[in-house]
Amino acid sequence: MEHRSVWLATAEVPTYDPLLHDLDVDVVVVGGGLVGLTTAVLAQRDGPRVAVLEGARIGCGTTGHTTGKVTSQHSLIYADLVRRHGEHDARRYAEANQAGVEKLAGLADELGIECELARAVAFAYTTDPRQCERIEDEVAAAKELGLPASLSSEIDLPFEVEAAVRFDDQVHFHPGKYLAGLARALVRGGGAIYENTRVSEIEESPDHRVHLTTDKGTVGADQAVVASLIPPGLVGGYFAKTRPHRSYGLAMRLNGEAPRSMAISVDAPTRSTRPWGQDGIIIVGNGHEVGDDEDTEARYRDLEDWGRSTFDVKSTDYRWSAQDYATPDQVPYVGRSALGHRVLVATGFRKWGLSNGTAAAIMLADLLADRENDWLRVFDASRIGDALAVGRLVKDNLKVGTELFGGRLNRPGPVPIDHLQPEEGGIVELDRETVGGYRDAEGALHAVKLRCSHLGCPLHWNNAEHSWDCRCHGSRFDVDGAVLNGPATGPLETRL
Ligand SMILES: Cc1cc2nc3c(=O)[nH]c(=O)nc-3n(C[C@H](O)[C@H](O)[C@H](O)COP(=O)(O)OP(=O)(O)OC[C@H]3O[C@@H](n4cnc5c(N)ncnc54)[C@H](O)[C@@H]3O)c2cc1C
Ligand code: FES
Repeated sequence: MEHRSVWLATAEVPTYDPLLHDLDVDVVVVGGGLVGLTTAVLAQRDGPRVAVLEGARIGCGTTGHTTGKVTSQHSLIYADLVRRHGEHDARRYAEANQAGVEKLAGLADELGIECELARAVAFAYTTDPRQCERIEDEVAAAKELGLPASLSSEIDLPFEVEAAVRFDDQVHFHPGKYLAGLARALVRGGGAIYENTRVSEIEESPDHRVHLTTDKGTVGADQAVVASLIPPGLVGGYFAKTRPHRSYGLAMRLNGEAPRSMAISVDAPTRSTRPWGQDGIIIVGNGHEVGDDEDTEARYRDLEDWGRSTFDVKSTDYRWSAQDYATPDQVPYVGRSALGHRVLVATGFRKWGLSNGTAAAIMLADLLADRENDWLRVFDASRIGDALAVGRLVKDNLKVGTELFGGRLNRPGPVPIDHLQPEEGGIVELDRETVGGYRDAEGALHAVKLRCSHLGCPLHWNNAEHSWDCRCHGSRFDVDGAVLNGPATGPLETRL
């Protein structure tokens, strides 16, 4: 089994040089994931010179580690959206996401991107009779909002379900191949992509320009789009208005044909499935907040046990994990940021960022070109929204911070770093200092200071990914302190 995303292992994603000089463009996009590349391709059609700055590699973020379901069915959401936001706003969310599905399929077709795109039915099901009423409410709400929803209890999974929301004519695809196609289309059209170029600061200046600081050079632009999953550093304060969640994925080969539909359980723990070729299945689930489980290896084991006890599994070929951010009111933040008029953002997709993210790209391209867009008011990136829910979330964020600062002192006493076995990591002692240590397969030791470079929260060892994870706002670092996930923009201090 390979410990990497099936989508990155099976796509030829083109590579690009880092920024080697200061740059001046009309529109600069931060992030080479689905949102950044789709926005760049759409914006380019209106004429501006567009450049994408990617901190690592195209697709290496959450898009390269997704389940790859492109659907307006987001487990159970529409009944709740109508209750919280009213029918008018819930309809805009539904329209935007259904349009996102069709735009993604349309772009793949127009640009000739071979990305294994296929139409399929999507189910959100329960095996618990007590949940049937929620399923019925969801079907009624989704239908009322104009979505292709119906009630069903027939699914092609090898077990009985009590009830399911069925959405027809949805899509699954290969996200690695799709992003590779978007990147090539952008460069073909005259756009530029700079990889391994991490943005640390974004400022709107009095000269009506946006200035970006990167680890390679500075960039000036008329407008900037921040599509880095969560805006870097302190940009717009989005780290404090969202919560980070990780989930685990497996790609398995079966003896025989895999179920053709896409399915997700509404019961906990989440089990999300979709076909992978004729005899393969992708299984994703077992989510939790970043940094709140140090035995992440057990999450993989549990998912694999479920896969093997549910399907006739021949082999588990790939495993991976990834994270996304959730807003307090279920709706992503898309549009002009709280930072300024010329800085646009898109974040908080709650693990439904393929349809939401493509819809976000349509909205952002409209904003860049000064076109009206009806959906923007609902996704408004500067909204306060549901004040109670935001208040609860900010309080949770603060609680996480304080508990952890307090908890740091109560952590188990560190053992000396040389007690670590190969491929073992944890909190250890080095020269009378408590540090994060790791011994690699070759026996070499690595040590970092256990303070997150974002706002200083303590870090937790992730035993499956061999990373240092921050529970405060979801930043992650490798064993030598390099940033794996923002909002942090700088490395950890090393101790060896
Ligand atoms: C396990 C899992 C399964 C999912 N499955 C689905 C699904 O089936 N359907 C669905 O709709 N959604 C799904 N999602 C959600 C969806 O994949 C994401 O919402 C979406 O891919 C986000 O795209 P993005 O472009 O915003 O972010 P990303 O794909 O993460 O791209 C952001 C890019 O920005 C770069 N970056 C970050 N910081 C900086 C910086 N400072 N400077 C420069 N570059 C930077 C990163 O390296 C990255 O490449 C899933 C999420 C998870 C975690
Ligand atoms: S991510 Fe904010 S302090 Fe670590």
